[in-house]
Amino acid sequence: MADTDDSIARSRAELAEAVEDAGSNPTLGPTIGDVIAARFGRRDLIRGILGAAAVSAALGPRSLAAQSVGPAASAFAFEELSSAPTDGIGVADGYRATVLMRWGDPVLPGAPTFDPNAQTPTAQAGQFGYNNDYIGYFPMPGATDPSRHGLLCINHEYTNEELMFPGLGIQDRRIAARGGVPFAKMTADLVAIEMMAHGGSVIEVRREGEAWQVVAGSRYARRITAETEMEISGPAAGHARLRTGFDPTGRRVRGMLNNCAGGRTPWGTWLTCEENFNGYFSGALAEGHPEYRNYRRLGLPAHWYNWHDFDTRFDVAKEPNEANRFGWVVEIDPFDPTSVPKKRTAMGRFKHEGAAGITARDGRHVVYSGDDERFEYIYRFVTDGRVSGERARDRDLLDAGTLSVARYDADGTGTWLPLVFGQGPLTPANGFRSQADVLVETRRAADLVGATRMDRPEDVEANPATDKVYVMLTGNDRRRPEQVDAANPRPDNRFGHVIEMLPEGRDHTAERFTWDILLKCGDPAVAAVGATFSAETSRDGWFGAPDNCAIDADGRLWISTDGNNPSRTGRNDGLWAVDTEGPARATSRLFFKCPYGAELCAPEFTPDGETLFLAVQHPAEGSAGLPSGQVSVYEAPSTRWPDFRPDMPPRPAIVVVTKAGGGRIGS
Ligand code: FEO
Ligand code: CA
Ligand code: CA
Repeated sequence: MADTDDSIARSRAELAEAVEDAGSNPTLGPTIGDVIAARFGRRDLIRGILGAAAVSAALGPRSLAAQSVGPAASAFAFEELSSAPTDGIGVADGYRATVLMRWGDPVLPGAPTFDPNAQTPTAQAGQFGYNNDYIGYFPMPGATDPSRHGLLCINHEYTNEELMFPGLGIQDRRIAARGGVPFAKMTADLVAIEMMAHGGSVIEVRREGEAWQVVAGSRYARRITAETEMEISGPAAGHARLRTGFDPTGRRVRGMLNNCAGGRTPWGTWLTCEENFNGYFSGALAEGHPEYRNYRRLGLPAHWYNWHDFDTRFDVAKEPNEANRFGWVVEIDPFDPTSVPKKRTAMGRFKHEGAAGITARDGRHVVYSGDDERFEYIYRFVTDGRVSGERARDRDLLDAGTLSVARYDADGTGTWLPLVFGQGPLTPANGFRSQADVLVETRRAADLVGATRMDRPEDVEANPATDKVYVMLTGNDRRRPEQVDAANPRPDNRFGHVIEMLPEGRDHTAERFTWDILLKCGDPAVAAVGATFSAETSRDGWFGAPDNCAIDADGRLWISTDGNNPSRTGRNDGLWAVDTEGPARATSRLFFKCPYGAELCAPEFTPDGETLFLAVQHPAEGSAGLPSGQVSVYEAPSTRWPDFRPDMPPRPAIVVVTKAGGGRIGS
């Protein structure tokens, strides 16, 4: 299990990363240097998985030109952006990028204009939340053009008090390393603002000519917060381990936490995923605690916030089961603003990154989900029922089905291992008395069936055009040389990799699959890194830390990142277009870059591929709120980020990208 040495973390995200991932720890140098002994797996070279790309990179950068495949082979046609770091945003030539919505903008009717010096919980509850991660675009039923009128569902993952509250500075445990007292300045009001800034937003948007607008006064406008009442459904609903003082039924819960990525269902609902929920819980976890083993496996309680000082449900000693009510995939009907969100327990409880899905040929719906922590697993859920196309019949499909976890074998094949009570080791002998137990302790169940421990699984997305499934693995700096395996072949994997899976018979419900490594990330010019971008990839085109991905209307792959910065990779986070087919395979090109300190999330295309929605999270993170003299040298506060004002915190925002003169993005 991860340690808790977070004294060097720069940001809330890094506080998480210190416990859970490679992140952008400032002590990391720009390259792996001598640490990596391995280059490419022998298997990769023998099987020719990476073809010319692998051979080129193995030979070193001087040989790259000779391996050139030529730009004509690429599925993309745009002029690549420079990767030079910026404190604004950058987009490829010929494209417009405009801010659509920012933290604090009114969502609900009557919400006040944003004023960071006079923020209140009530104001925040009606305004756009803080850090925006997932974006889902839902065409408006009956719209004349479904790609010009729809709803955006946006996750608000977490809050940065040092950026949100002027003059407050860092309050969490990082301050102890600088002689401060953690959370000393946090008040009931500030915590309530944080709670209201979490959750999600639903906004109605419409394109008029070139410009997208938020529809004012929309009847669909909605804010979900850490206090929104939700239903718990599926096999774990009502179980004794989910009952609390507030909810003796085990079926009602307030709020969702740390919602990272998500997905859309064919019946038009929004799946939003609780990721690092452990960070919100505090209190003493004694060995006699009824959930001791379960909570330890999830890093609970992590105490990244002090919400427990004002609401005892966040204290694991005082409300021992509350944390079992988080860590789920939440389903929300965005077209009914009065609908009660449902935590769908059948899909398991872990640090869900996302929940992208695809409907199999037999009509069963399949949802893929990574568990974002070093050495965790990749999961798949297959519904029992079939998608009918009738909304009322399909709406509870996610309550019944089979959750499985992936094992990757060295021969390039793999197996989905079912997590079903009574099967294999998932029996009372191992402490499981029902399927509810299996779901509450999904990680322990996956340990027992022999799943493959991965390098921090993030987004997992299927390409409907090819049925290939792309897995973002953002990195794992704790994998030691003796721990490498075929699917995680680099020790001290600081830059991450991307796996491509193909289900047997192109059937997403199949037990078996084959897999390749599409990309090992990092700088291909540094041989020790062992990156495998194609020879055609430019100095601007490579990246590290893949996080979110999208498949566009042409079946092309786009990858956004979280963990690049000028010190680490010589670039900010951004969006890269990645070829997956033909001679250009593994060629990557930079399309969009975000400001210093920000990570780039979403990405989400309209069905016609002509609009791209992007989420810029935590601009200037790592640069604000630090005591004098400790400001990070490589991430100065953003001064060019749109609407910058010296008296205004840099605001997370949704950015809309369209092509000047119209047409598909990237073509
Ligand atoms: Fe919230 Fe896995 O990133
Ligand atoms: Ca993510
Ligand atoms: Ca992230």
